Amino acid sequence: MKIAILPGDGIGPEIIAQALEVTKTVCRKFKHDLEYKEALVGATAIDQVGNPYPEETHQLCMQSDAVLFGAIGSLKYDNDPTAKIRPEQGLLAMRKKLGLYANIRPVMTFPSLIHKSPLRSELIEGVDFMCIRELTGGIYFGRPQGRSEDGSTAYDSSVYTIEEIERIVRLAYQYAMQRRKKLTIVDKANVLATSRLWREVSQRIEKDFPEVETEYLFVDNAAMQIIQWPKRFDVMVTENMFGDILTDEASVITGSLGMLPSASIGIHTSVFEPIHGSYPQAAGKDIANPLATILSAALMFEYAFGLNEEANLIRQAVAASMEAGIVTEDIALSGKAYKTSEVGKWIVQYINDNK
Ligand code: IPM
Ligand code: MG
Repeated sequence: MKIAILPGDGIGPEIIAQALEVTKTVCRKFKHDLEYKEALVGATAIDQVGNPYPEETHQLCMQSDAVLFGAIGSLKYDNDPTAKIRPEQGLLAMRKKLGLYANIRPVMTFPSLIHKSPLRSELIEGVDFMCIRELTGGIYFGRPQGRSEDGSTAYDSSVYTIEEIERIVRLAYQYAMQRRKKLTIVDKANVLATSRLWREVSQRIEKDFPEVETEYLFVDNAAMQIIQWPKRFDVMVTENMFGDILTDEASVITGSLGMLPSASIGIHTSVFEPIHGSYPQAAGKDIANPLATILSAALMFEYAFGLNEEANLIRQAVAASMEAGIVTEDIALSGKAYKTSEVGKWIVQYINDNK
């Protein structure tokens, strides 16, 4: 197993360190040969080599079987909208160059965390859906993008081709077929031309999957229903920016943004990363929740290597840590909060002791 490790910015290095320890432990236990190498990305890479996604990092990703990614972003750039080179460009370049067109974000509740959600427990107990976010098109990448010459106007373009829509919608149907056979396609077809193309293409593909119950929702309505009735969803597919926004919203169901992992898959090497950002305010304090990243490592075992037993052991260890109350401050009950590294150590110990 050749893995590229990209810690990135803010809390990235701390949470990645824990996920890497977990990965090493699982590999030792199941006797997998693990080879890993670190590379620069994000603000850290700008500071060191002037490029948020250096060619060297890209080559390492291309030569690896999987990428474990921390987070990107720093206050220095957030507070300076005029900066020409931005950390996020590194993340976008990586997604584009690796062809990671599908970002899979599973949303589920953990029994021991129900109390942490601002939503009533009867609404969220048993929530289990998957958001599939298109990741290499739409307004994130559309051109033209920029400013008018006199600086008085700015513009972004949302662009989608039939081909881009077709491959992500087909993938979503395949996931729906393996699950409860229900697909929600989220768009804004009452307003946007790209959304109308999404709907047209989807309606055509729908016919190839008669066993799947398909529904179309406008994104504003979907935003409401995720909170009002999250159990109704099985697989949801949507364009890049809608998916970005809806999955942060969906993380509230699980109780903390620090819980949601993701897998980005596509043409080249897949990337596994937490959906939360770099949380610079917490950097270096050993307080960030490492669970989303550790759960991303579980997704890596499952998706990149087809190792389900290994993935499940990680998930079991994470669930056990929460039941034992060995958790960081964002999800701690009134009781004691543990450090990032303490949570990681506990999980490693659990994996060593159990099978
Ligand atoms: C995410 C993040 C990124 C995105 C940022 C850091 C560019 O919010 O992965 O959801 O918007 O895609
Ligand atoms: Mg986001």
